[in-house]
Amino acid sequence: EKGGYDYFMLKEIAEQPKAVADTLLGRIDGSGSLSLDEVRIPVSVLREVDKVVIVACGTAYHAGMIAKLAIEHWTRIPCETELASEFRYRDPILDQRTLVVAISQSGETMDTLMALRHAREQGAKVLAICNTNGSTIPRESDAVLYTHAGPEVAVASTKAFLTQLVACYLVALYLGQVRGTKWGDEIEAVIRELSDIAGAVDTVLETMEPVRALARSLADKNTVLFLGRHVGYPVALEGALKLKELAYMHAEGFAAGELKHGPIALIEKDLPVVVVVPSPRGRSVLHDKIVSNIQEIRARGARTIVIAEEGDDAVVPYADHLIRIPATPTLLQPLVATVPLQVFACELATARGNEVDQPRNLAKSVTVE
Ligand code: F6R
Repeated sequence: EKGGYDYFMLKEIAEQPKAVADTLLGRIDGSGSLSLDEVRIPVSVLREVDKVVIVACGTAYHAGMIAKLAIEHWTRIPCETELASEFRYRDPILDQRTLVVAISQSGETMDTLMALRHAREQGAKVLAICNTNGSTIPRESDAVLYTHAGPEVAVASTKAFLTQLVACYLVALYLGQVRGTKWGDEIEAVIRELSDIAGAVDTVLETMEPVRALARSLADKNTVLFLGRHVGYPVALEGALKLKELAYMHAEGFAAGELKHGPIALIEKDLPVVVVVPSPRGRSVLHDKIVSNIQEIRARGARTIVIAEEGDDAVVPYADHLIRIPATPTLLQPLVATVPLQVFACELATARGNEVDQPRNLAKSVTVE
């Protein structure tokens, strides 16, 4: 049942190109437009939406943080992403023109369910992004977009995360398409890139041996830090979460711009710091800023592990370890940048003798608040 892999997690990491392709299947038509008729919220209602609120927990929340950037960029609708467990306790402002997106692999997470119930009571429309057919969250939502990742058995989420991202991009692009924005040309180009993205995920998977060797060499460390900006920030948080839950190590993700406001005091000799570098082509200002962040931490002794696009030569002098990922449009980069972090955490946990599929104290679906 593990298909020749030692762990379900390894199998599920390897399945990601197919999972991503399955999530896209039938949702992009021959002319390169999105057809999401299955989202049974009338286009007239979607055109009236004036705010999007995303609620989710854990890894799904990280997907939601990335979705916020995509939705605001492509649709210009204000969007906020909130931890489902915090949401209803602050009396959030919601009405008929609010679209609430609840993201959940299992469809049974109690915090997310309670948040969506609260949203519906206030009159908001709820769209679920879910991996489990017929589970409670899609049943209680106005509409659902299934992720089609197939069953995810390992407690740590991998392929569900990538497919949640794909579903979020589809929602963002679809909202842009039905409402029409100044990014029309970009939306068409991104839809084309998205339809080929499974190949890029496959390319990353084929080059993971050095990442495994690096992970094994760090097995006796106590702390690993992760830095990113823009879409790289949630990727950094996700890398840190994977390492906490699997390797039981102290791991923290930071927005790289926050370094100078405190966390840089943590940097000491030989501390491993993973940095997710944005594309030098897209928002090049961000790229240059993160290159200076890498210089700063390296000057203070950090061991830099740099994840950067193929052809990005500016990072080479400052990378103690360089992990290459294929070039993608900026907003899609998490689909390729997260994969090395999953492999890294899985291998480090194995090297420390941990049970990868069943980490201590965790359950696959959290059905209590
Ligand atoms: C982390 C992980 C958890 C889940 C979270 C939400 O690897 O698996 O953080 O992402 O418990 O679960 P779902 O998506 O089922 O609502």
